[in-house]
Amino acid sequence: MVNVGQHLLGIESLTKEQIVHYLDTAESFIEINERSIKKVPTLRGKTIINLFLEPSTRTRTSFEIAGKRLSADTINISASASSITKGETLIDTVLTIQAMNPDLIVMRHAFSGAPWLLARELPEVKIINAGDGLHEHPSQALLDALTMRRRLGTLENLTVTFVGDALRGRVARSNIFLLRNFGCKLRIVAPPAIAVDEFKAMGVEIYYNLAEALKGSDVVMSLRMKNEYLKDFFVPDLGEYSEHYCITSKLIKENCPDALILAPGPYIRGVEISSDVIDGVKSAYAEQVTMGVAVRMAIMYLLCAGTLEESN
Ligand code: CP
Repeated sequence: MVNVGQHLLGIESLTKEQIVHYLDTAESFIEINERSIKKVPTLRGKTIINLFLEPSTRTRTSFEIAGKRLSADTINISASASSITKGETLIDTVLTIQAMNPDLIVMRHAFSGAPWLLARELPEVKIINAGDGLHEHPSQALLDALTMRRRLGTLENLTVTFVGDALRGRVARSNIFLLRNFGCKLRIVAPPAIAVDEFKAMGVEIYYNLAEALKGSDVVMSLRMKNEYLKDFFVPDLGEYSEHYCITSKLIKENCPDALILAPGPYIRGVEISSDVIDGVKSAYAEQVTMGVAVRMAIMYLLCAGTLEESN
């Protein structure tokens, strides 16, 4: 078995072999999720804490379902229902959680790097980054990759175009780190304040014109305008943004009619992507969500694999 290490903090530090191992392992969990009884005893006796200190629908729910389908005991903590609202610091919160002896903590936090802090403070616990600020969202990149590989048969040498807020979007960064292992041609198209030159150093081509960027794309990924971070700083007017950067069926038909359409979600219909594209036959949005459960089961399983024998 390929060793994936103690934590999943980001994609940047993973090898291609480790990425493929995550994807192959996730494939084996897909079938379990299609059974009438969707439960296996793999992580029985393990305690998983979902520490979500920033809002989430997809990621939090699928990590919880993944843990439950592996028979782990999963506990959810959200910022609004925790003592963080009373002024308890992040460090004191995690030290308190550590005293309850969890096996694995899944963390989402608005501060880039917060899961690394957790890994440093809690050396005995396995940590999964479920999205940290503007930095990485590794489980999302893995589920995106699994969806692409299943739909297109390969990840090698694809042309993948990210449309929208790559700068404040951790999804694009993790996808770029992942896909450059497979020789993919990567493009970002967005207003100049967002499609900044730092992405060129990551091997990404920068476009400002949506039609030009879409031409010949195998995959088009719609990114949400993340106005919860630095609101109004990059794009003062979403109406004007959508006039130039909303992915429409006309643009897809004219420039990349066979492209697979992905959206990590949440998406805003009519701003980033039109309803007929996100609901269209080339859209794999629902499949991404489905793959998310299998990928998160694989992550939990592989991180705990080294400690499973002792409990059996
Ligand atoms: N894709 C994603 O991270 O969605 P949530 O914020 O709803 O988890």
